[in-house]
Amino acid sequence: MEKTGRKTDVVSEKEIEKQRKFSEKVFCILSRRYSEKPLACIVTYGCQQNVADSERIKGMLSEMGYGFTENRTKAKLIVFNTCAVREHAEDRVFGNVGSLKSYRRDNPDVLIACCGCMMQQQHIADKIKKSFPFVDLVFGTHVIYRLPELIYRALTNGARIFELPDMDGAIAEGIPVLRDNDSRAWLPIMYGCNNFCSYCIVPYVRGRERSRSVEAVVSEARALIESGYKEITLLGQNVNSYGKDLVPQISFAQLLRMINDIPGDFRIRFMTSHPRDCTKELIKTMAQCDKIAKHLHLPFQSGNNRVLSEMNRHYTREKYLELINYAKELMGDSLSLTSDVIVGFPGETYEEFKDTLSLVEEVKFTALFTFIYSPRKGTPAAEMPDPVTAQEKGRWFRELTELQEKISAENMKKYTGKSFKCFVTGKGKLGDNYLAARTDGNLIIEFEGDENLTGTFQNIKVTEPLTYVLKGEKERK
Ligand code: SAH
Ligand code: SF4
Ligand code: F3S
Repeated sequence: MEKTGRKTDVVSEKEIEKQRKFSEKVFCILSRRYSEKPLACIVTYGCQQNVADSERIKGMLSEMGYGFTENRTKAKLIVFNTCAVREHAEDRVFGNVGSLKSYRRDNPDVLIACCGCMMQQQHIADKIKKSFPFVDLVFGTHVIYRLPELIYRALTNGARIFELPDMDGAIAEGIPVLRDNDSRAWLPIMYGCNNFCSYCIVPYVRGRERSRSVEAVVSEARALIESGYKEITLLGQNVNSYGKDLVPQISFAQLLRMINDIPGDFRIRFMTSHPRDCTKELIKTMAQCDKIAKHLHLPFQSGNNRVLSEMNRHYTREKYLELINYAKELMGDSLSLTSDVIVGFPGETYEEFKDTLSLVEEVKFTALFTFIYSPRKGTPAAEMPDPVTAQEKGRWFRELTELQEKISAENMKKYTGKSFKCFVTGKGKLGDNYLAARTDGNLIIEFEGDENLTGTFQNIKVTEPLTYVLKGEKERK
């Protein structure tokens, strides 16, 4: 590792070069072993952070000589990039990995790998070791850049590999990326999380916060825009903390302004913001910069102050609403708000849950991501008494989703007659000559138009609210 003028380590150029050499060796092995390009299947669970990691995994595998398939039974390498945030996500991974047992037995040259957040938990790695002996390679979130070396070892040595260092990963630059989409790009600006919300596993599996350098982020953004990308989403578990570990320090709002200043017609998105660190400066920056989508994803988790404090969130309902009202004041109707909510946190009462309902009623989010609390081993909340039954929590959950559906339907009606600058994503579903376009707030508007408008920004006026999409027509420029 190289020490830089900052608190975070960066993987040295020498190490990256070493990985390139491994990549070349794998390429030679694969071309000797297979007459056709071997295929890899990457299965990604979890958040955009994982999606971005998978794009780097694909970039490295592509250099090693792999092609790609969605069909597991055509693949010579299957990679599960896993998520640990809720139990349901973990169960799905075990089910899917388990179902490969006979395929692996009948095809001994196939490699099966598991990586991502789940693997950073010791009890999960132990379970894979014991109960899934056909998994060849397990690696954690901090060593993705060493994939060429790990694949080389897996191909040349029969021993199973468990590469799970428990440290805060250094930042690796210069890794090839194979993106899933050619107009919308994910751009990680930081890794890890320091917040330790009491229910959340992320800080344990992703390590402490560390920011990529301003130069690395801005030059990646510039390269994306120059090669035609129209939408760039800056990613981090808590983007408002960006730059705190850099020397000199820089704020997230400053970074946004620098990206906004890059010439070109494109849109900037970012996620996720934490209400504790979300500043008025950031909201002002959003309002002032023309290329920043007027979309704020600001998870509130609970509308009750006692529950928020037990969650270790470090803000109150009042502070949250103050931020929301400030954003509404500055951006008015053009603002789209979304959020995450947890229902049934240990010890939450129905009375307290009603504060979540009233907050949802008050803010009128464009969309809500709602989750029933899932205990995560090793987190403080998992040790808290949790007397409310799953059935009862299910009832609360339905009450919340029904309320949000009512609000979404009301919102849809309100959009009629309004115009939005939209990015045209491709064919629509309403009919043959319909195209789909997305607003800043990720609403979908379908309109009739020529297919060559795909990949451009257009002003669309909403004519009719349907259940999940809006119908509209293109305005003359
Ligand atoms: N860093 C982001 C989101 C991380 S995980 C943030 O702080 O907002 C995405 C969402 O999953 C969280 O916002 C939370 O609503 C939910 N979540 C996290 N841990 C959970 C758990 N143990 N049970 C249920 N939902 C959880
Ligand atoms: Fe988890 Fe909280 Fe960090 Fe988000 S901010 S990743 S919810 S610990
Ligand atoms: Fe899941 Fe890891 Fe993201 S736990 S939500 S994939 S950071």
